[in-house]
Amino acid sequence: MNKLTFLLIVFCVFQQNIVANNPNWGATGHRTIGEIAEKYLTKKAKKQIEDLLNGQGLAFVSTFGDEIKSDHKYDKYYTWHYVNFPFDTKYENSQKDKKGDIVMGIEHCVNALKDPSTTQKDKVFYLKFLVHLIGDLHQPLHVGRKEDKGGNDIKVLWHRKKSNLHRVWDTDMIEFYNMSYTELSKNTKNLSRAQIESISEGSILDWTYESQALAKKIYKSAKMDDKLSYRYSYKYFGLVRSQLQKSGIRLAKVLNDIYG
Ligand code: ADE
Ligand code: ZN
Ligand code: ZN
Repeated sequence: MNKLTFLLIVFCVFQQNIVANNPNWGATGHRTIGEIAEKYLTKKAKKQIEDLLNGQGLAFVSTFGDEIKSDHKYDKYYTWHYVNFPFDTKYENSQKDKKGDIVMGIEHCVNALKDPSTTQKDKVFYLKFLVHLIGDLHQPLHVGRKEDKGGNDIKVLWHRKKSNLHRVWDTDMIEFYNMSYTELSKNTKNLSRAQIESISEGSILDWTYESQALAKKIYKSAKMDDKLSYRYSYKYFGLVRSQLQKSGIRLAKVLNDIYG
């Protein structure tokens, strides 16, 4: 082996181990949620949303919240993607992030969309952001512990590659399954009308506590330096799929309440 080949191999191995810290459901997760929500929109809501988004679907705009992270103009929205408060405290009594959190972010978007004085341009912004945030709220580790940034600091191996617990739930399990967002959105569980109604019930805060309860379990599912692979997906991918489905149904509920 010559020197150049050796260096190339070393470079490739290092490249593989670099983990980008992108703290969100990946694109596939967000798009699946948007696509599922489309099925539950009322005609009236669908029409108004289509007009606002100029034909772009909810799956297409669902990743907007992440795309704007590349523009410093939007830095002030960074903390809107999650909320961390102690597991033994109520959100209402917890110390709030002055920059805002996902609960405040969703409330802000909903209020702006309901306000007739909001400009068309701002409505488009808040609608796209709302689609994204209802998705993030259902990634349980977005309602996590502050100490480890919702599991971002819990480094683990995913199929021998460096990752972290947060990322496993945002992206790794979904990408490893290797289905497109359209396939994932078509292959959801058949739910009765009563089940759909029951999922749609509750407030943003109720859904926040539900995610927090799941996060508690997820924290017990793995520890620092664990090697996660097939067995982890076998145990938890069902929960990922059910969260995507719930999130889609609830996104439609929130949008139907605004536009219905
Ligand atoms: N950064 C800090 N806490 C986070 C969380 N819970 N989810 C995503 N990103 C975070
Ligand atoms: Zn996000
Ligand atoms: Zn995330």
